Amino acid sequence: MAMLALKPPMGWNSWNTFGGNINERLILETADAMVSEGYRDAGYNILTIDDCWMLKDRDENGNLQFDKAIFPHGMKFIGDYLHERGLKFGIYEDAGTLTCAGRAGSFGYERQDAKLFASWGVDLLKYDFCYSSPGSSDVNLYRRMGQALRESGRDIIFSGCWGDEGVWKWMRSTGAHMWRLTGDIKDSWDSICEVGLGAVGLEAYSGPCGWNDPDMLVVGVDGKGYVGKIGGGSTDDEYQTHFALWCMLNAPLLMGHDLRNARPEIKKILLNKELIDINQDDAAITAYKIPTTRDYFTILAKPLYGGDIVFMIINKNPYWTYYPLSWDYCGWEITDEVSMRDCINHTDLGTFKHGLTVKIEAHSCIVYRATRK
Ligand code: GAL
Repeated sequence: MAMLALKPPMGWNSWNTFGGNINERLILETADAMVSEGYRDAGYNILTIDDCWMLKDRDENGNLQFDKAIFPHGMKFIGDYLHERGLKFGIYEDAGTLTCAGRAGSFGYERQDAKLFASWGVDLLKYDFCYSSPGSSDVNLYRRMGQALRESGRDIIFSGCWGDEGVWKWMRSTGAHMWRLTGDIKDSWDSICEVGLGAVGLEAYSGPCGWNDPDMLVVGVDGKGYVGKIGGGSTDDEYQTHFALWCMLNAPLLMGHDLRNARPEIKKILLNKELIDINQDDAAITAYKIPTTRDYFTILAKPLYGGDIVFMIINKNPYWTYYPLSWDYCGWEITDEVSMRDCINHTDLGTFKHGLTVKIEAHSCIVYRATRK
């Protein structure tokens, strides 16, 4: 028996850059880049094909049909290609009669679709909520697919995408392993703050086998592609803050940029092992907020297995400034001696007593891993 999603799932999803503009070549090239560029070995092992892989109509037996014009060898071929390279296969469907982009939805066909996905070697199902049938409750629609997946004969991570306000209170009971907290992220600082900081305070709902999901990453989308054009783009400091915040939140790390042409700065952000280790930490405690009277700062603490605590300070001001960090809110005395390591720049900062004052650039952050002496 396998416990699915014991750690926050990691991978890549086609939507943020490519929207409905997908095809077999893109998916195979992305799979190759996941391996050759070191993403797979850093933990990003699930490749998910989002909306628009299927036709609007089912075949005469009620089966979903992949779009042969863009996926000439079909979905089993993709699944095999991924598995041969040590990757996992994610796919998208919808709890209603149509997907959000207007293709065939799974309502009324959940068992049949789950079996079909299993036969293709699918390892993750992202399950959306557009065009839900009037009168069906959101909880029940997710239960229907959760049940069908468990009966499919294959271990499939169930990724619940936007149900209703308060989705975090009920989604786990459907068997979902992660649940989208909000509407779609955009490639902009405002959107990163809105969806990321919106997850702060919901930490008690998230844990092994069931994670809060503040949506996929826009790191490196660079104002291009589907979500990029909507948001307009972000700076590298903003992307760095975005990635570090998702790590602190134990959020699934699902990249969305074009992996085939990533800038070195973007790869450096996403392949930061110290931050990924914080996201995947064995204690699985999601960061909580340390109160501050200064509105333009968010201060988070994340206790790790083995006793370290990671501190993150986000400066939402459009200018650099100082912030005094202390640790007496987290179970330590302010007089305790604490050594600090900068997890973004990979440097040891020394040992401190009574806190320390930190300089933080505009729309930027610090992430320090602290050890009590
Ligand atoms: C949205 C979802 C996006 C993407 C899109 C596909 O509802 O939030 O992440 O999956 O549907 O149509």
